Amino acid sequence: MVIDLLTSHASVRKYKDIPLSKEDVQELVSAGQHAASSHFVQAYSVIHVTDQDKREQLAKLASNKSQFLSAGAVLVFCADYARLEKAAALHNRKIDYSHAENMLVGAIDVALFAQNVAIAAESKGYGICYIGGIRNAPAEISDLLGLPDGVAPMFAMSIGVPNEANEVKPRLPVEAILHENSYDTAKYDDLLPAYDQTMHDYYLNRGSNQKDTAWSIQMADFLAEPRRTHMKEFLAKRGFTFK
Ligand SMILES: Cc1cc2nc3c(=O)[nH]c(=O)nc-3n(C[C@H](O)[C@H](O)[C@H](O)COP(=O)(O)O)c2cc1C
Repeated sequence: MVIDLLTSHASVRKYKDIPLSKEDVQELVSAGQHAASSHFVQAYSVIHVTDQDKREQLAKLASNKSQFLSAGAVLVFCADYARLEKAAALHNRKIDYSHAENMLVGAIDVALFAQNVAIAAESKGYGICYIGGIRNAPAEISDLLGLPDGVAPMFAMSIGVPNEANEVKPRLPVEAILHENSYDTAKYDDLLPAYDQTMHDYYLNRGSNQKDTAWSIQMADFLAEPRRTHMKEFLAKRGFTFK
């Protein structure tokens, strides 16, 4: 059942040395394309990186050797308005994608597309892991992959035959996510400490990389400082000026 597949997801970061064929990747991308798309703009592209040298450079730029070098396929997902510019040019028209709304649409479109690719891959027995590390060096990676203005890399994904089986990470309880009619802040006084206990037990007892921590302190640490502060300037250079 689809719901069983969705609820058994766990990111995979170690793969067997078995490449996906171009046909395999095409099938996954085609499934991904059937995701809904805002106003049907289909504002995304994906680069399948098959060249070994490029993979090695990506691994270095994104500081993620293990996944970029061992995965059966490496995909770089991009928000893409360059193709829409071409479409408009067929009618001697120009488009404007300089507003915050345009970046939101591109980011949402590419995320929905990618998640469909992920589910399709997992349905065929592959493991996947998203890699946000490509935003460590988006300008260099754009040069490496020949991305034109109007195209911005958002994240990568490794896909392959799993060489590890990770436990499913407990999510926040449904009642923490689901509100009825209006947002209820008060419930977090109880729900967050309870979830911390769940995550503390999970982190202490999981099969590998055990640690003595909990979710809320991890989030506090993670979000204490701004991250990837170069993104605003990078996106502006690509034409996403967030007006
Ligand atoms: C956009 C995005 C970027 C991510 N980037 C990385 C990454 O750079 N490296 C990594 O190991 N995992 C990365 N992840 C995976 C998350 O850490 C993972 O999904 C989360 O911890 C939940 O674990 P699970 O996927 O095993 O359920 C990323 C996930 C998303 C959605």
